Amino acid sequence: VCLGIDVGTSGTKALAISPEGVILASASSSYGCAHPKPLWSEQDPEDWWTATVKVVRAVVKQAKLKPSDVAAIGLSGQMHGSVFLDKAGKVIRPALLWNDQRTAKECEEIESRAGGRAKLIQMVANRALTGFTAPKILWLRNNEPKNFAKTVKVLLPKDEIRRRLTGEFATEVSDASGTLLLDVVHRRWSQALLDKLELDASLLPKCYESEEVTGTLTADAAKLLGLTTACKVVGGAGDCAAGAVGNGIVKTGLLATSIGTSGVVFVHSDEPQFDPAGRLHTFCHAVRGKWHMMGVILSAGGSLQWFQDALCSTVGKNGVRKPTASFEELVNEAAATPTGAEGLQFLPYLAGERTPHLDPHARGALIGLTLAHGRGHIVRSILEGVTFALRDSFEIIEGLGVPVKQVRAGGGGAKNPFWRQMQADVFGKAVSAMAADEGPAYGVALLAAVGAGHYQDINQACAAAVKTAESSKPDARARKVYDQAFPVFQGLYRALKGEFP
Ligand code: XUL
Repeated sequence: VCLGIDVGTSGTKALAISPEGVILASASSSYGCAHPKPLWSEQDPEDWWTATVKVVRAVVKQAKLKPSDVAAIGLSGQMHGSVFLDKAGKVIRPALLWNDQRTAKECEEIESRAGGRAKLIQMVANRALTGFTAPKILWLRNNEPKNFAKTVKVLLPKDEIRRRLTGEFATEVSDASGTLLLDVVHRRWSQALLDKLELDASLLPKCYESEEVTGTLTADAAKLLGLTTACKVVGGAGDCAAGAVGNGIVKTGLLATSIGTSGVVFVHSDEPQFDPAGRLHTFCHAVRGKWHMMGVILSAGGSLQWFQDALCSTVGKNGVRKPTASFEELVNEAAATPTGAEGLQFLPYLAGERTPHLDPHARGALIGLTLAHGRGHIVRSILEGVTFALRDSFEIIEGLGVPVKQVRAGGGGAKNPFWRQMQADVFGKAVSAMAADEGPAYGVALLAAVGAGHYQDINQACAAAVKTAESSKPDARARKVYDQAFPVFQGLYRALKGEFP
């Protein structure tokens, strides 16, 4: 048996799979996210660890596993987050997350120290974006010098959990790509950029390929989780690559969309390929010797979550927020309104936007309201706006000539048949759901199965275990409405760009 653990933004999930890839048990546990200032987004790594212990124990119990049954664990998690550790292995301050936008100045500093954007892309394949890890390290140096002076290691969220499990400081190429410190083409840390940024290479952990074994459980961790010290922990992958592996996106022609808090359009590539404008990320894939490109929108499911929190919830006497309408009710109301939400448009830039605008100052907007619009229209415009934002990435990928033969959808936005159909209509392509849409945890459980020796490589594991389920075909009438609304959506950002506060 292998376990996959995904340290997400809204919670941590674990699942157990048999050597054939069948899911035996799964559990999740949620936690909050702090926004101490506008544009800031932080979590306490201790919350991840507490949740990890809870979900692993729950899975072991549910599947009735003996300690020695679990051969290997794969780790996945929200990418880019920065865990700052002192020399005693203590976390120095809350981690800055992927959707934190405080580092605009540091991004400029990085480009200028690198000798310009083109030079930076040569070294690390990507532009400096506020969400990435390197700008967060510089932010600490510039704004909290005392904390920076104490920092001896910086880890990504899932790698902090690895440290607590194995005592090792390690990462792997897919997540490391999102630090902006990896030489993505050669799959090793970029000493060239570290030098330009005057950062010591010792701040970074050892970097592995995704299915490589990075260590085994410590005696304490094994005891706490009900496992043994023979249990291996493989590299795993950042949640985007892990989710893609879980959906079998491990060869050319396959593209995945994923709608969780963020939204991702992910395409496999055999060679490192680049968007000259740097709107898409070029990262190492969790497949040895392969890469991927992806576009990321910051508020996908997060936009719907915001709507529910802000407008469809009450706060009880105990201070706990309770929804007054479930996602299902909201989406059903949306489905009862016409395609195109009778002209209502939503820009999902609630946390600024990454692809395609790379604009931390972009804002959300609801445009075209009339007296005739009700809650269902607003929800529909949110779902459509998020799907249009994914189409922006889709079009850049196709524009670069990357072949797209099949689209597979994952995450909450694919489980819901209405939103999946909307994706097919907006992209104009058939969109398949997955038989086991378990997200990133499933992908890293498969990587663990490779590390445990059940499969030769991840391609073999995916061929054996990953199956697609029903497919939604584009509806010609809806497609026409969306083809007319999409350029309006694109024009609205251009028109409002200079007006955001
Ligand atoms: C990827 C990204 C997000 C997080 C969300 O670049 O920032 O998808 O990984 O968990």
